[in-house]
Amino acid sequence: MKTQLIEIYSADIDSGRVEAVAECLRGGGLAVIPTETVYGLAASAFDSAAVARIFEAKGRPQDNPLIVHIADMDMLADVVSEVPKAALRLAEEYWPGPLTMVLPRGKKIPPCVSAGLDTVAVRMPSNPVARAIIRAAGCPLAAPSANLSGSPSPTTAEYVIADMNGRVEQIVVSDDCEVGVESTVISLIGGQKRLLRPGGITLEQLRSVIGEVEVDRSVLSDEIVGNVSSPGMKYKHYAPRTRVVLLEGDAEEFANYVNRQTNAAAICFEEDAPLLAAPYVVYGSRDDDRSQAHGIFTALRRADELGAEVIFAHSPARSGVGLAVYNRLLRAAAFEVIKL
Ligand code: TXA
Ligand code: MG
Repeated sequence: MKTQLIEIYSADIDSGRVEAVAECLRGGGLAVIPTETVYGLAASAFDSAAVARIFEAKGRPQDNPLIVHIADMDMLADVVSEVPKAALRLAEEYWPGPLTMVLPRGKKIPPCVSAGLDTVAVRMPSNPVARAIIRAAGCPLAAPSANLSGSPSPTTAEYVIADMNGRVEQIVVSDDCEVGVESTVISLIGGQKRLLRPGGITLEQLRSVIGEVEVDRSVLSDEIVGNVSSPGMKYKHYAPRTRVVLLEGDAEEFANYVNRQTNAAAICFEEDAPLLAAPYVVYGSRDDDRSQAHGIFTALRRADELGAEVIFAHSPARSGVGLAVYNRLLRAAAFEVIKL
């Protein structure tokens, strides 16, 4: 398939180009669109044939449900059958933005969007290009991250093209994604408040609005407990081809450990770099969790270029957005962690 590249930047949103993307989506096509978190591989959430093509284009397992993207609160009524009070409070505070809520699925959303579950994950992105496209399409858009299944999520148009060129009708070429990790996913089903995936909105931010929030066991471990509440979290994910090991320790401990290994490389903080004898890519600054989130997926994509046999990643602190970065690195490392 010949993929059409369409440039639309936040600072200059051309309505003719937005309409071309909307038309493709309304007609059952696939288009990659930017969001503030990562690029998304979008199709109309009302069109089960188009949704089936998303799974095919990504090589995504059929049991991993998709997130539905809306432009305003009117669209929410088409997606869910019920909006609990906690969901309304979170929407008021954090939408539009990097927060996804799992709610009871509405009748207009076909089961394949949710991999057969009677729930649906929904979010309202803040990226102005994404919002313009959803509004012009006039329907909610189902969109997973626009990477091949198992690869790091793409945060730049360059990485989208590397994974998706030839697999979709259109790719919107736009700015680099601001947040850099995917949205936070919280389940509000049956009165529970459970964090399924940490992301751009922190656990602390959620708790400040709706009180206690449980953290699903899959966030920090590979334990699969009976019924998998967050199917996406059970796969090895975000991984370079090279083996990754996560190291927990301070800058000196990290550098000393890496420097003793042969054929090793590092994914590290800028503060670690002067201490390292091995090749490295920097993913952010030790005390700046937002910079870590912004840089982590590019670092994981570039890690293979270092030509090492094993890559040691320096673990971030698990607070703020750092929890999301830790969660992604843990999966990139297939849960191989060494405490120094
Ligand atoms: O930031 C994001 O969320 C990006 C952008 C494109 O919006 N999208 C994204 O989608 O990360 P994806 O498909 O890569 O991740 C969706 C996550 C998976 O972990 C999936 O299991 C979970 O959301 N999910 C979706 N629907 C669910 C449901 N009904 N119940 C539980 N988890 C669900
Ligand atoms: Mg993904």
